[in-house]
Amino acid sequence: MWLEILLASALGLVIYWFFSGDKEDTLPLGDGWWGPGARPTAPEDESIRPFKVETSDEELNDLYRRIEKVRLTPPLENSRFHYGFNSSYLKKVLSYWRDEFDWRKQVAVLNKYPHFKTKIEGLDIHFIHVKPPQLPAGRTAKPLLMVHGWPGCFFEFYNIIPLLTDPKSHGLSDEHVFEVICPSIPGYGYSEASSKKGLNSVATARIFYKLMLRLGFQEFYAQGGDWGSLICTNIAQLVPSHVKGLHLNMAFVVRNFHTLTLFLGPRFRKLFGYTERDMELMSPLKEKMFYSLIRESGLRPQ
Ligand SMILES: *[C@@H]1O[C@H](CO)[C@@H](O)[C@H](O)[C@H]1NC(C)=O
Repeated sequence: MWLEILLASALGLVIYWFFSGDKEDTLPLGDGWWGPGARPTAPEDESIRPFKVETSDEELNDLYRRIEKVRLTPPLENSRFHYGFNSSYLKKVLSYWRDEFDWRKQVAVLNKYPHFKTKIEGLDIHFIHVKPPQLPAGRTAKPLLMVHGWPGCFFEFYNIIPLLTDPKSHGLSDEHVFEVICPSIPGYGYSEASSKKGLNSVATARIFYKLMLRLGFQEFYAQGGDWGSLICTNIAQLVPSHVKGLHLNMAFVVRNFHTLTLFLGPRFRKLFGYTERDMELMSPLKEKMFYSLIRESGLRPQ
């Protein structure tokens, strides 16, 4: 009985999906202003200013003082991490950040690439912009926007940047040489946070699109993971003709139909187009899709 109902709903969805088609919806570009107070009437200062990451003794001493002043309560006996972060372990983490981590060295690492800031929609937007040190004769670099996620920042891309901007020196083909732009999402890293409610992935997408235009790129490639994946998808939906290619390393699939196939797939593998390998990766479904997610995200059930 339940199976029949499920099958009927599945069939209904298939028919709906078939006739509604995969429409390529574009999103309206719109506009926004997220700075504090009222939007000024004067046009925005569009200058691009160089920026350097800096720290000082004062800032570091303040940080050390705050780490030293932490008040920890002992963990429940044998609770491991099951009742939140175990405070005996937290002591090790704190001593690492207090006594081992070399902040000044890290600041130098962060400044390895050129940083900039520019005002967009009322916010000071931070980004790094890395050009290829050399280009094969007669070729131009491909502009690539790379957008980080949560809880990350532009630093996510530090290791891959040389492979993209200077592939030859890393034993790779120089068929594709990129010029890389990694902005900080408003409120992350060195980008100003919104003063207004409602700054979402679409607004961020529009801000980064404006950034690419300001840098002189009418057409560009985009790569994103986590929030960056949604933001880059939104850019492609807002201005498809400006996006030459989109690469995502965390693709959000939010189709009801897709969720249904997860449950019916194991029973009707061929009907839903799953391969044997897909089945191997997906089953047992409860373990692979739910328990592992819960465990890996720190919500481990007893
Ligand atoms: C806290 O975590 C550490 C490291 O995993 C472990 O050795 C210790 O037993 C834990 N403490 C409690 C109270 O569970």
